[in-house]
Amino acid sequence: MRVLKHLFENNRKWAENIKKSDPDFFTRRAKQQDAEYLWIGCSDSRLPAMEIVDVLPGQIFVHRNIANLVIQTDMNCLSVIQYAVSVLKVKHIIVCGHYGCGGVQAAIENTGDGVLDNWLMQIKNVYQKHQAKIDALKNTSDKIDLLCELNVIQQVRNVCTTTIVQKAWKAGQELAVHGWIYNIRDGLLKDLDLCVTSSAEISEIQ
Ligand code: CO
Repeated sequence: MRVLKHLFENNRKWAENIKKSDPDFFTRRAKQQDAEYLWIGCSDSRLPAMEIVDVLPGQIFVHRNIANLVIQTDMNCLSVIQYAVSVLKVKHIIVCGHYGCGGVQAAIENTGDGVLDNWLMQIKNVYQKHQAKIDALKNTSDKIDLLCELNVIQQVRNVCTTTIVQKAWKAGQELAVHGWIYNIRDGLLKDLDLCVTSSAEISEIQ
């Protein structure tokens, strides 16, 4: 290994620290994961899922992409949801956006380029849907932050309407879908008061 030695050094110390407090940790984890949560978050480097909610490896199943989107034709995201719901039987799916999201900003300002522009199309649709409410705000960062929240709400709706989640609810599987937003300015999570636990509750999402 000729490069990035410091990352391997960090990794060795990290594993040692965990083993110090729990010598069998990795042996136990190697046998199975015990994830109760699926986290769908933004790829932004300031949003490390495990650290934000302070859990150890094995406790949270993670999917991240730019602007935490759940698109019904995205095989990557859908496969993650399917594995989490059908195999791991997670009890919670958390869609977590963040204020000041660059993807949301690019969608609002129309600055996405190439394939990224296609990816952000869904946020542009959310913007169009709520344009009067968003444009009524004077401050650009307030506009972006409101669209960040509305985007999370839309993605929660998208998770709830996947055939995977629909099928799980129909079979009586215990599964809640949550909408959260993270504030990169103070490190705190905010619950958007969205907790959908059945198909009947989808219509209550604003
Ligand atoms: Co982001």
